Amino acid sequence: MNIRDQEPLPMYVPAYQRYEQMKYRRCGKSGIDLPLISLGLWHNFGHNDDFKNQRELLRAAFDMGITHFDLANNYGPPYGAAEENFGRILKKDFLPYRDELILSSKAGWDMWPGPYGNFGSRKYLIASLDRSLKSMGVEYVDIFYHHRPDPKTPMEETMGALDQIVRQGKALYVGISQYNAEETAKASKILKDLGTPCLIHQPRYNMLDRWVEGGLLDVLEQEGIGAIAFSPLEQGVLTDKYLNGFPEDSRAVKDGRYLKKDAITPELIQKVKDLNDIAQSRGQSLAQMAIAWLLKDDRISTVLVGVSKVTQLKDNVNTLKNLSFDKEELKKIREIITR
Ligand SMILES: NC(=O)c1ccc[n+]([C@@H]2O[C@H](COP(=O)([O-])OP(=O)(O)OC[C@H]3O[C@@H](n4cnc5c(N)ncnc54)[C@H](OP(=O)(O)O)[C@@H]3O)[C@@H](O)[C@H]2O)c1
Repeated sequence: MNIRDQEPLPMYVPAYQRYEQMKYRRCGKSGIDLPLISLGLWHNFGHNDDFKNQRELLRAAFDMGITHFDLANNYGPPYGAAEENFGRILKKDFLPYRDELILSSKAGWDMWPGPYGNFGSRKYLIASLDRSLKSMGVEYVDIFYHHRPDPKTPMEETMGALDQIVRQGKALYVGISQYNAEETAKASKILKDLGTPCLIHQPRYNMLDRWVEGGLLDVLEQEGIGAIAFSPLEQGVLTDKYLNGFPEDSRAVKDGRYLKKDAITPELIQKVKDLNDIAQSRGQSLAQMAIAWLLKDDRISTVLVGVSKVTQLKDNVNTLKNLSFDKEELKKIREIITR
């Protein structure tokens, strides 16, 4: 626990006009609208992160009309910490607003030792969601995902577990993450046959990682499944932060678990600089242009950002002021990102 934990925050009263600031988009063929920008708790919500900042981030998000918070069993560090911290904040600030929130969790990656704490068995998924519900102090999540495909478990078992979870009332909808186009088509068929259609797919998608354009987005459209794009800013690379070196408070310096400093090469930075020039000519930050670029495709229901500061979240939400591109801008961007 950090010293700032002790500092009180005034009682939370959400901004009255929160729903006027945000735009919402229908998630596939379902009854759910999602905010164009959603907030993920993968980073910055661990036990080593400032709890007061976590609380301020979630308050600021909700005040700006962000209704969707994305978690997973193993977000931390340590694993599970983000759900615990989210649960503490929910209890302090958000319980009266539970019905205004879409909360998601996931299981599929390594969580606890032994053969039952990883991948896609019915045993793992159901036990993991039970732990997540307890940590967050909620009776149900709105969306429960299988976090990644499991090559060894029959897909019927994994999808059967998702269906069972909905029937038990522990999740309202189900989703899948990181499944390729073929796996997604198969999962969707099984889920439809079970009577629990897949609401949403969570793929990695940004200007520097466009694998979803090779078939996945078409399958999602055919199947009526929404898409939530994760790491839309390539973990911060698609912003202006690394243009002149490595800031001390950046993810690449503070937390090299997934974003390695040596992956941010001079060639990559040159691309980012060229993109930044286009963003500036549009009167936008690069982060804003990267988000708008994803949202130009209405198969993308929402863009799932992470933030370490409230100012970043405000910057990202201000994307909504300019979501359109002209043909020339799109052509120039394509040239840069495909070279
Ligand atoms: N399904 C999956 O397998 C999977 C995998 C990964 C992530 N996710 C989900 O996707 C969410 C987002 O992933 P991500 O954190 O990698 O997303 P991201 O939005 O690509 O990167 C977030 C980082 O970008 C920087 N940033 C954000 N807005 C900024 C701005 N306006 N200006 C400057 N810098 C800005 C911050 O970096 P600094 O910390 O350097 O300030 C922030 O921590 C996760 O929280 C999680 O919910 C899912």
